[in-house]
Amino acid sequence: MPAPTKVLVLGASGRLGRALLRIYRGAGISASALSHTDLDLSRPEDIATRLARYEFDVLINTAGITDVDYCEANEGLAMTVNGQAPGAAAAHCRERGARFVQISTDYVFDGAGREPITEDMPCKPVNAYGRSKLEGEQTAVAALPEALVLRVSWLFGIEKSSFPDRIIRQARERLDVSAVNDKWACPTYADDVCDWMLALLSMDDVKGIFHLCNSGACSWQEYGEAALTIASQLGVPLKTTSVRGHTMEGFAPFLAARPAYTALSTAKFTALTGIQPRSWDAALEDYLRTKHLSR
Ligand SMILES: NC(=O)c1ccc[n+]([C@@H]2O[C@H](COP(=O)([O-])OP(=O)(O)OC[C@H]3O[C@@H](n4cnc5c(N)ncnc54)[C@H](OP(=O)(O)O)[C@@H]3O)[C@@H](O)[C@H]2O)c1
Repeated sequence: MPAPTKVLVLGASGRLGRALLRIYRGAGISASALSHTDLDLSRPEDIATRLARYEFDVLINTAGITDVDYCEANEGLAMTVNGQAPGAAAAHCRERGARFVQISTDYVFDGAGREPITEDMPCKPVNAYGRSKLEGEQTAVAALPEALVLRVSWLFGIEKSSFPDRIIRQARERLDVSAVNDKWACPTYADDVCDWMLALLSMDDVKGIFHLCNSGACSWQEYGEAALTIASQLGVPLKTTSVRGHTMEGFAPFLAARPAYTALSTAKFTALTGIQPRSWDAALEDYLRTKHLSR
């Protein structure tokens, strides 16, 4: 199949949604996006009618409730938005012969292992966010077996601040900066996800689950230290480049349990496309250069 000609993105104000618009439009693809106001996923019964107003041959759902602790306190809503809505959107795509891409997460796993996780490993979410996203994968594929489910982790990107931006902001202001040191995953550049997704969408008959992330894994503490080291090299004035580590246990802001180790294996994606994702720290440096040197 050729590259998609008309892409509709759900999640117009989100980190990945906005990156998709910028990159796909830059690649000459007709891409538009719907915001939360345009289409409220908490009303799955309205989704088909709303989507019928738009022309597209690929629908990419980046939207969802991504605040893990909010999901824990509002599991019913999370199940509707993250769990049921993808099924309704996928069913509409089946009716009109469009492709559907559901963005999912490493949080579908329990994080109990210490090796990169492959797509066929059992899912066992430890919190409401993970349960709702797993439900979303399942409802999407049940409605449209040709759907693509792309699991990503620890996204950072130009359009919306995330962990590295927060830690840099803290290190500009104070000497004591800390982060969790007993949770590991693969930080991933939203721009890279857009490119990898396009590679998949440009291929014939690709369906099913793929893990998409930059290579290598780190703890939040290591991720923070890398961000501070790169920022300092780029001339960002910081009070420290050290990040003190602390464990997840007893960390007050965390209401929900988090999986400890969720580095994803991208071997399936590489075998299919020949693309080897670059390392997370190279991608992070690229991002921070773009952000701090283009001002
Ligand atoms: N960020 C990460 O580190 C990460 C890691 C793993 C997986 N993921 C997955 O990757 C996807 C994209 O992540 P992201 O970082 O781009 O997320 P994001 O920046 O939080 O964007 C999520 C989007 O969903 C929209 N949304 C929330 N509730 C909605 C509703 N009821 N109806 C319609 N839209 C709604 C939000 O709009 P409003 O802001 O206007 O409500 C926002 O535009 C998500 O599906 C997430 O689960 C993210």
